[in-house]
Amino acid sequence: MLRLSADMNCNLAVPRHVAIVMDGNGRWAKKRYLPRFFGHKAGVDALVRVINACADRGVEYLTVFAFSSENWKRPEDEVSGLMGLVLVAVTKYLAKLARDGVRIVIVGDRNAVSDRLRAAWLEAETATQHNTRITLSVAFNYGGRWDVVQACKQAVAAGLTADQITEQALSGYMAMRHAPDPDLFIRTGGEVRISNFLLWQVAYAELVFTECLWPDFDVQALDAALADYAGRERRFGAVTAAPAGAGGG
Ligand code: IPE
Ligand code: IPE
Ligand code: MG
Repeated sequence: MLRLSADMNCNLAVPRHVAIVMDGNGRWAKKRYLPRFFGHKAGVDALVRVINACADRGVEYLTVFAFSSENWKRPEDEVSGLMGLVLVAVTKYLAKLARDGVRIVIVGDRNAVSDRLRAAWLEAETATQHNTRITLSVAFNYGGRWDVVQACKQAVAAGLTADQITEQALSGYMAMRHAPDPDLFIRTGGEVRISNFLLWQVAYAELVFTECLWPDFDVQALDAALADYAGRERRFGAVTAAPAGAGGG
């Protein structure tokens, strides 16, 4: 298989930016008669595998949905289990990810999380800020609607007039402003919905939905999604396929 490093990603068949709704952890655990927490734990390991596989294939940006603005509606023990798991995962994997050339960015509303988790994220972002192999954005306490609202608030605070509020200007205030728009959007777990992920940015993403539960998502499943993407014709509203380099971002 053709392999491209991040700085050689001239092959349009490889998406520059992949966004994933990592869904199905609870059902994965249920199938094994395990508490849901074990599904989330297996989900972290799946993510670590997928980051490197994406980087090896020339994907420059990987953005994953880890906790939505709406996931606070879950039972308290599941929410606290997830918070603890994320803290442990950062401690366990930060050195490896930093060595592997991964730049970590956290997107979402940090106000509601603990001081310890906020500090761990800051440490992860700072330790990896100069890495260039792949940018991993972890959406945590994130919602697409929250993002649009917070971007508008920033634009108002910066004193933008109505005329100055353009798509480009607003994009500059979005939590994902460090990345181009996703080319490929994958949702595991069989549900066919967006669930408030990257609403602004997925305008022209190619959508792939798979029954595969997130902890089972492996290199073969990733390659199947990438092959599906490679067979799509992206037109961005035009009549014919977009020329090389066209795209949303
Ligand atoms: C996704 O898996 C992980 C989070 C939302 C944190 P789920 O926990 O939603 O798993 P299912 O959909 O119940 O199987
Ligand atoms: C979306 O999954 C959020 C994450 C994967 C973090 P959910 O399981 O929360 O989505 P719904 O409730 O089925 O739409
Ligand atoms: Mg779910």
